[in-house]
Amino acid sequence: MKLITKFILTTVCMLIISACSNNNEPSVKAEYSEEYYAGGKNGTAFIASSFAYKQPMPAIEENNTLYKQFMRGERISDKSFVASEDMAYSGLGPVYIRKSCIACHPSYGGHSQRVDKYDSNDSRCGYLLMIYNPNEPNLPLATKYFTGMTQTRAVSPFKPPVNESGITIEWKDYVDEYGNKYEDGTTYSLIYPKVSIAQDAILFDDFDMSQHAASIEATIGIYGTGLLDAISDEDLRAQWQEEQTRGYCAGVIGADIDETGKNPYFPGLHPGRFTYLCTRATLDNGPGANAIWNITNVITDLPERTGRSELYITREYARVMSLDADVQTIYPGLTSQEIEDSLMSKRQKPEMSAEDYEAFMVWHRGLAVPAARNLDDPTVQRGKKLFYETGCVACHRPSWTTRSNYTPLPSISNQKIYPYTDLLRHNLEMKEPGRVQLCRTTPLWGKGLMQIVSGHTDRLHDLRARNTAEAILWHGGEAKQAKEKFRKMSKEDRDALIKFLDAI
Ligand code: HEC
Ligand code: HEC
Repeated sequence: MKLITKFILTTVCMLIISACSNNNEPSVKAEYSEEYYAGGKNGTAFIASSFAYKQPMPAIEENNTLYKQFMRGERISDKSFVASEDMAYSGLGPVYIRKSCIACHPSYGGHSQRVDKYDSNDSRCGYLLMIYNPNEPNLPLATKYFTGMTQTRAVSPFKPPVNESGITIEWKDYVDEYGNKYEDGTTYSLIYPKVSIAQDAILFDDFDMSQHAASIEATIGIYGTGLLDAISDEDLRAQWQEEQTRGYCAGVIGADIDETGKNPYFPGLHPGRFTYLCTRATLDNGPGANAIWNITNVITDLPERTGRSELYITREYARVMSLDADVQTIYPGLTSQEIEDSLMSKRQKPEMSAEDYEAFMVWHRGLAVPAARNLDDPTVQRGKKLFYETGCVACHRPSWTTRSNYTPLPSISNQKIYPYTDLLRHNLEMKEPGRVQLCRTTPLWGKGLMQIVSGHTDRLHDLRARNTAEAILWHGGEAKQAKEKFRKMSKEDRDALIKFLDAI
């Protein structure tokens, strides 16, 4: 109770008058042990309200220039882009996935919500859709026809590659080898998604959906990604080496790393660390920077830096659209070949200024991690002990220290952070995981606030888990032993472990 009261006081102080928090903060915070600073001293925000995932890091708040950029970047994330030309937030389309970041990352935090219908107008639905070939190893995406992240929206007269009304998400019951029972006899229920797309919902006549599969991936959380970016490549590789020798975890390092260590997504030798599949190595080339382009199809005016000055479309899409009578009306006098060439041009007109993009990246990098809560509570302490003893830490590595010279935001160098992830991929052998068979260990920091911030507790890469216990019960494969220990715990211990997870 004492701590909760202090949190509320600190929060109120911070919100009402910053002078008040300046006077009181040091003495209040001095009582918190290191682990309360989930994002390190310079990357943690002490606020546990519904705004918990939206806070700037102290390092940003204390610097006027950065703070202004942060606020400008926040607007870019939250506003819907529009198709009309030459106004603020112009550049949407011609084909797109959503109009804004916030459309899929509500409050930037935790996960989006489990839904029964793929409806991109539904603010709860933060799913990305993938269409892939299930008959080949590595489940390659159908990239001749569709972009890696499937587009389901278009600015008229363009047509979307997939019509959303033809996408079905079915939630199926799953019974595990223990008949869905904890050892003490208590029952639980598990569900998983099955996604299908009707053939007539596909724009391309010669694409055979029956030879393909579709799956959905949910958002992870944006806060704290600047800190993960600041972990050194060497430390990441050392973690991978260590897991190799331990033999406990496959510890697959980023999908974009081959034996020579070359990353096709970014020049240089960076191991992947972002997204469930670790396909992205740095924040500058990461899922957020990339999303400006491939979610909204907005072209940024920084081709040298982002390398993205063409439209996010496939040639097949450009070809089919160039033959579409409605599309031809907006290109008077052009042949269909010229329309196709124009759509495929490598140098489209820039739609977002370099200043806006810089501000957007300050916001992205500067989102603080919410402080841990209640760590001194005896039940939470008990849960922590169980988390270590059960072997969860083998993958959910509690802490890292960021590198000493993180140039994009120097103040978050040398921070001891508590993300509870090894940033490596593992096989949990889940029933029908879709494309995410080898999944990065999801960071656990801040997730205990999901109920307060987002009003739900849906978890795992496709949100099949409706709460933390179900998330743990889906752990098989490399994590089977740990899951087994959890299943055998008394109810009191299970609750304590979950209380710890809610606190970090
Ligand atoms: C269509 C929904 C959708 C929209 C809109 C969207 N994202 Fe995402 N985002 C996702 C999904 C799904 C993932 C996890 C997917 C994966 O692993 O490929 C993700 C992952 C991320 C991650 C990686 C986090 C991590 O820990 O690796 C960041 C950062 C991110 N998004 C930022 C953004 C930003 C910034 C925007 C706006 C420019 C944005 N996203 C727009 C769906 C979306
Ligand atoms: C072998 C590595 C490994 C071990 C051991 C492990 N986990 Fe995980 N954990 C993962 C991976 C990988 C994911 C992401 C799986 C997915 O989304 O498909 C995950 C996801 C989770 C999630 C859901 C995160 C989210 O927000 O989606 C929770 C909660 C969790 N683990 C808790 C635990 C606990 C508690 C233990 C110990 C009983 C444990 N894990 C042991 C690898 C592991």
